[in-house]
Amino acid sequence: MLSRRSFLAAGLTSGLPSLVPSAGFGEPFTLGIASGDPDPGGFVLWTRLAPEPLAEDGFGGMPDTPVPVDWQVFADPAGKRVVRSGTHLAVREWVHSVHVTVTGLRPGRPYWYRFKAGPYVSPIGRALTAPAPGTTGTPLRMAVCSCANYQHGYFTAYAALAAERPDLVVNLGDYIYEQGSDHLLGPGGNVRDHGGPEAMTLTDYRRRHALYKTDPDLRAAHAAAPWVAVMDDHEVLNNWTNLIPAVRRAAAFRAYYEHMPLRPAARPGGTAMQLYRRLRWGGLATLHVLDTRQYRDPHLCGAGFHDCPAPDGPSRTMLGLDQEQWLLDGFHRSRARWDLVCQQIFFGQRDRDPGPGRLVRQDAWDGYTAARMRVSEGWLQAGARNVAVLTGDVHAHWAGDIVLDYDDPASRPIGAELAVTSITSGGDGRDIDPATDALLNGNPHLKLHLSHRGYLMVDVTMTTLTAAFKIVRYVSRPGATAETAATLALQDRVPGLVTALA
Ligand SMILES: [Fe+2]
Repeated sequence: MLSRRSFLAAGLTSGLPSLVPSAGFGEPFTLGIASGDPDPGGFVLWTRLAPEPLAEDGFGGMPDTPVPVDWQVFADPAGKRVVRSGTHLAVREWVHSVHVTVTGLRPGRPYWYRFKAGPYVSPIGRALTAPAPGTTGTPLRMAVCSCANYQHGYFTAYAALAAERPDLVVNLGDYIYEQGSDHLLGPGGNVRDHGGPEAMTLTDYRRRHALYKTDPDLRAAHAAAPWVAVMDDHEVLNNWTNLIPAVRRAAAFRAYYEHMPLRPAARPGGTAMQLYRRLRWGGLATLHVLDTRQYRDPHLCGAGFHDCPAPDGPSRTMLGLDQEQWLLDGFHRSRARWDLVCQQIFFGQRDRDPGPGRLVRQDAWDGYTAARMRVSEGWLQAGARNVAVLTGDVHAHWAGDIVLDYDDPASRPIGAELAVTSITSGGDGRDIDPATDALLNGNPHLKLHLSHRGYLMVDVTMTTLTAAFKIVRYVSRPGATAETAATLALQDRVPGLVTALA
């Protein structure tokens, strides 16, 4: 990271930035910078001007007036060779956030970028373009993460994944938590404080997003690589479905967009937000990014683990009809070596009842079994060459085979699921976890479970997809180092997990 003030006029570098009269505001890049959703010609760039990130009114201490924000894209990390530049007018209506769609770049290479507002210059961030369509020579290294509860711990795992310089960071949701300061993590209590009650209003959600981005480890993760982000439930409300009040849903969506490196196509209109989308890494991998919240039917028996007597009928939907058809069409059209389904909730069955009953989590695909079958059979019928489902939500690392009939031990794998643990949610992890050990034993398609915090580092080549299960042994204080606790691989044309390397 270069000095953010390297471009400042010498006379302005001394003294407090907030006293600089010409800009009318103080140092505005407190929430960091970000890039996202790369394609072969570019990516989106994000920042938000907020000299007082936690200002009570949610506007970050900015004046009412629009502010021009200059942006530059460089071919070199030192920021000497400008290849694209422009100016975006940041307005109060969108809390002076900036979403710039950069186009016309060369495919399959890194770029760097920064912003300038008034006399202030941001740090330099690193982005990448996707490889050219159909090309297969560029491997993909992506960090996968989810579930970062600020109150539960330090974002050490974000710093660790940033240090690995992945090509992409895939965030599968629970990027913030809506809960209030009074929402305690077990007997150990909270490590940090949300500084207010449960987020309900647009102002609340804006301040909560800003609080999270005051964390330097989170800012480092954004600056290190482009993100592909999708929300789960806690960006709005725990386990929400489409029954949530419209005003709250619209507020949460708007604040999410304002704070994330999403393309302008995702800018919400009221209660609707286009989050499901497809990204291609040449002919190597296609990422189908799903939205499992907005279009789903309500729970039949609550969100938790229940043996639900109500019929999970064939008309029930997780994705909504349009998104489901879009996904199945995507499998049919895909020519990628790997189809990666990036989504929020556990896909395969996890049955806690050792007997004939089905004690499963109703909020996950286990509560929408007909929809799961349509998607699973869909990729089989489409002839998708290799399918891996990447999952968040569960606050533990899991890996398992995906089968069509979980009650038939002879049902053969049709793909694999890799579920990433939380960045912090749940607090410090543990080595032994009897309840989940029982789940492993009772569900033979599940192969691995780790109750620590961390992230996944996934390396994709034409022959192999390798997942390193990274853990940090504590988050209740800073400073843990990331370790590779296990490594699993998938091989081309071999459905399911094939190799335990460590
Ligand atoms: Fe979570």
